[in-house]
Amino acid sequence: MQSGWIPSDIADLQPLEVVTYAYSRRQVLSEKYKGIRLVIPAGGFKVRANDSDYNYRPHSAFVYYSGVQGADSTADAVLVMEPSGDSHITYLYMNPRSTRDTDAFYRDSKYGELWVGRRFTLAEAKARYQIDTHKLGELENLLKDGKETLTLRDVDPKIDPLVKKNDAEAEFAIFVSEQRLTKDLYEVDELQRAVDATAQGFNDVISAIPAAVETRRGERVLDAAFYGRARILGNDLGYNTIVGAGAHACVLHWIRNDGNVRKGELVLVDAGVEMESFYTADITRTFPVNGKFSPAQRALYMLVYESQLAGFAAIKPGVLFSEINKACQEVLAKGLADMGVLTVSAEESLKPEVGLHRRWTLHGVSHHLGLDVHDCSEARKEMYLDAPLREGMVLTVEPGLYIQPDDELFAPEYRGIGIRIEDDVMVTADGCRNLSENIPRHPDEIEKWMKAILGR
Ligand code: GLY
Ligand code: MN
Ligand code: MN
Repeated sequence: MQSGWIPSDIADLQPLEVVTYAYSRRQVLSEKYKGIRLVIPAGGFKVRANDSDYNYRPHSAFVYYSGVQGADSTADAVLVMEPSGDSHITYLYMNPRSTRDTDAFYRDSKYGELWVGRRFTLAEAKARYQIDTHKLGELENLLKDGKETLTLRDVDPKIDPLVKKNDAEAEFAIFVSEQRLTKDLYEVDELQRAVDATAQGFNDVISAIPAAVETRRGERVLDAAFYGRARILGNDLGYNTIVGAGAHACVLHWIRNDGNVRKGELVLVDAGVEMESFYTADITRTFPVNGKFSPAQRALYMLVYESQLAGFAAIKPGVLFSEINKACQEVLAKGLADMGVLTVSAEESLKPEVGLHRRWTLHGVSHHLGLDVHDCSEARKEMYLDAPLREGMVLTVEPGLYIQPDDELFAPEYRGIGIRIEDDVMVTADGCRNLSENIPRHPDEIEKWMKAILGR
């Protein structure tokens, strides 16, 4: 069985565009951690049940420093930056392809080519990523030499015991997270591509609205429409899609998506395509199911819309991250006061110790976006919430209003309405650029967009 096969090397494998960026990112680590070995695992498969695993996705830090992409990605690989003089040499320890002359080809249902498809040889991976490659099996020996080593712990339980625990590990994880707070040009391009793919996904969602109305658990119809586009244009979803029809929109993380979609109500869709590069968009649009906003829906929508405009306007280098939220909340609180539902003035409500408007605004309006939907999550508060914005940061602006169905403070026609508008923006030299500007936001534009697709 092992002989009589034509060789199948991939000739002329070109380096990925990302390699120069990944190299520069590693230089930053090298500068910071002179003389220390750095071990950055990709992580392994996560078991769903028995011998079934979830779809594999490498850890974002591994992606960032290696440049590995989608289907090429190698489960269990480990990036090792080995100190050399004043700098480091990088190696990728990986499971290379098992060719037809190996037992694994036929027998290994997790890695064998017959079972799961071809992976790169060591030479192919080196050509693709421009990083010297070694077999994963050789890593354990290297890590035995007692050299000072830092790893990202809890990414791969097989690697953790091979690296001695070290007090500096926590700081290493923070440094790695904070390095991604500003994006390089490659990242911004990929985020734009993710947003553009997501825009197509939203077109598909609108196309599916009539079927969603006709189908029991219509939220699933919209969820599935977006998922299809994510798999066609990208690697996957960047996170579980939220489809909240009617009052489900008031449940912030409504991912069951098993409700009916009814005419006359709104449906909130929060979704993002993750590209093969693993960068994701994070967009929310709220649609009137029958294509036209009612006066109550429009009144609330416009308040969220104006709030988001204030958020955009607040963004420029030097302004504190937390100011975006302040700007959005100010508009929402004033609007709620004008509607007569706040029992105190907007000014009073906006005091941190009061915050009555939060009954309807529920959440902050921004987070960093990148390889992870909530990117840079290990960054310190003083580098994130309390930090000045810098050119090249990519953030969401996502104010919302949520009137629970049993909220007596609002008149009945407002109850059970949840609205969020979420866009992805990049901080520029003097303001921000909305990467999702082409996805309609104003209620008139939303109605036009729906009419263009649905023809009614
Ligand atoms: N989709 C998650 C979020 O908006 O943060
Ligand atoms: Mn978000
Ligand atoms: Mn979102």
